[in-house]
Amino acid sequence: MKAQVTVNTLRKMKQNGEKISSITAYDYTFAALADAAGIHIILVGDSAAMVVQGHSSTLPITMDEMVYHTRLVTRASKTAFVVADMPFMSYHASIADAITNAGRLVKEGGAAAIKLEGGASVCETISAISKAGILVQAHIGLTPQSVHQMGGYRIQRDEDRLLEDAFKVQQAGAFSVVLEGIPASIAETISGKLYIPTIGIGAGPGCDGQVLVMHDMLGLNIGHVPKFVKKYANMAETVETAFRSYVEDVSKGEFPAKEHCY
Ligand code: KIV
Repeated sequence: MKAQVTVNTLRKMKQNGEKISSITAYDYTFAALADAAGIHIILVGDSAAMVVQGHSSTLPITMDEMVYHTRLVTRASKTAFVVADMPFMSYHASIADAITNAGRLVKEGGAAAIKLEGGASVCETISAISKAGILVQAHIGLTPQSVHQMGGYRIQRDEDRLLEDAFKVQQAGAFSVVLEGIPASIAETISGKLYIPTIGIGAGPGCDGQVLVMHDMLGLNIGHVPKFVKKYANMAETVETAFRSYVEDVSKGEFPAKEHCY
């Protein structure tokens, strides 16, 4: 039987140079499959706003909705370490709000840790949430909640700023940091300098682990797929083909057949 992944497992993996695999999930069924496959970290990403809810950014998803998705995922995960995203504006207005909302994801959602976006600018928040006894995964580089400030989803290339952000979130108490949308060479440098595990997305192979949005890697997305994604399946095609066959069978009266009847 596989052992429960804990923060200590992830720390040891970094020390031993073992790579960490992470994937997003938003519901019971897919979380159970990810867990059974041996994924180390399941991220209940605020990307749910886009891939589940159909919004054009991650900004609209609410705290209540993130708690809901987190509950579905933690109900399924037997050994994976579950991290839940803090949605836009759930940790910006005040430190007290941030602690309360992080607490909801752990207490009501059952998450083992929370994730929030930002570097030096959110260090006080990371420190306060950590001191409240909640594990924090930081997220620097291309931070989708700042899409308007960045002027779009742009690769971040300012090495000095990225290094400063990485050191500051580590110092503030983050147990891990997601590096998104940054050149592979910078991500490798950061990963070599930090003692906490770095989890990359669009940040090359030099990170301590990788994370992908489940819908992207399963080929469930019909729209644009970013360059950094490797498609491990073509589920959109498989599912649409199945639906078409069903429509055809029903319209021809071929389903249900004898074996489907009582
Ligand atoms: O919400 C999400 O899916 C994420 C990943 C892209 C890291 O934050």
